[in-house]
Amino acid sequence: MTTPQRDLHEGNRQSWNVATEAHNSHKGDQAAFYRDGGNKLYAEERELLGDIAGKRVVHLQCNSGQDTLSLVQLGAVAVGVDISDTAIEFAQQLSRDSGVPADFVRADVYDWLEETEADGETFDIVFCSYGAIIWLSDLKTWAKGISSVLKPGGKLVVVDFHPMSLCFDDDWTLKFPYSGFDGSGSLWVWEDGVGDYVATELQQASPDSELPGTQKFENPHPSYEFNWGIADILKALLGAGLVIDRFEEYPYSNSGHIPGMLQDERGKWVTPPEIPAIPLMYGITAVKPSD
Ligand SMILES: C[S@@+](CC[C@H](N)C(=O)[O-])C[C@H]1O[C@@H](n2cnc3c(N)ncnc32)[C@H](O)[C@@H]1O
Repeated sequence: MTTPQRDLHEGNRQSWNVATEAHNSHKGDQAAFYRDGGNKLYAEERELLGDIAGKRVVHLQCNSGQDTLSLVQLGAVAVGVDISDTAIEFAQQLSRDSGVPADFVRADVYDWLEETEADGETFDIVFCSYGAIIWLSDLKTWAKGISSVLKPGGKLVVVDFHPMSLCFDDDWTLKFPYSGFDGSGSLWVWEDGVGDYVATELQQASPDSELPGTQKFENPHPSYEFNWGIADILKALLGAGLVIDRFEEYPYSNSGHIPGMLQDERGKWVTPPEIPAIPLMYGITAVKPSD
């Protein structure tokens, strides 16, 4: 896709609104967690982010703001952006209740990037993670927008689920083609919309799914995912003039995002014993050149 598919993003907004309500119904006292200095960022993104104290950071597709507040706990001045009304309302409330300050904006990421560029506002770091890229319908416009809101010398940090891992069905048979060899991405339509994965994933023991909350969740709004290969992402960033200075593939995930994954002694989710190791997450840092 070569232009943002805003009509499909609007469908995703509706699907994420109801799913986010279900997700948050399972989470415990998050305000207390952040008031006590809690942090949800994993070692992988912390390492790629580096020292962010005093840095202006925008967290794109921030959902309910948990990671945005975690960036603030590390000393950043953070703005979170998300298309979901429910997520942004929750994030704003969580910031008030926890006393951890951050600004939250409800917007389609493409609109926010356009408007922020027009306003001339810039950031030291743009960050997005865990289930972000798959909602982007046009990687080239996204990458150009990111470049336009980065200060010279500023960097983009992405940590996300590896597209290779999304080729597998729930029983680990290869079901879906690896997407985007030609740079155009593939549209995946899910009639049953964004699910209540907080309840159903393997992480039942995590603090994020400690309450029974919503039961038998059904989403009436279909969702629209855009599947890209790793080369598509890297080429879009290079095409926007950014310099890739780190690229990592991890043979584990920080979330049990496919049934059957097992948690190892470090708490990382790995492929089941009968499946050889494949990349399950990746990380990128891309810098905007100074001149
Ligand atoms: C899997 S969640 C990301 C969770 C995130 N890593 C966090 O910190 O919690 C994906 C998010 O992307 C948002 N999203 C999807 N399409 C979007 C768009 N076009 N513009 C802005 N946000 C979008 C959804 O509302 C959802 O909150």
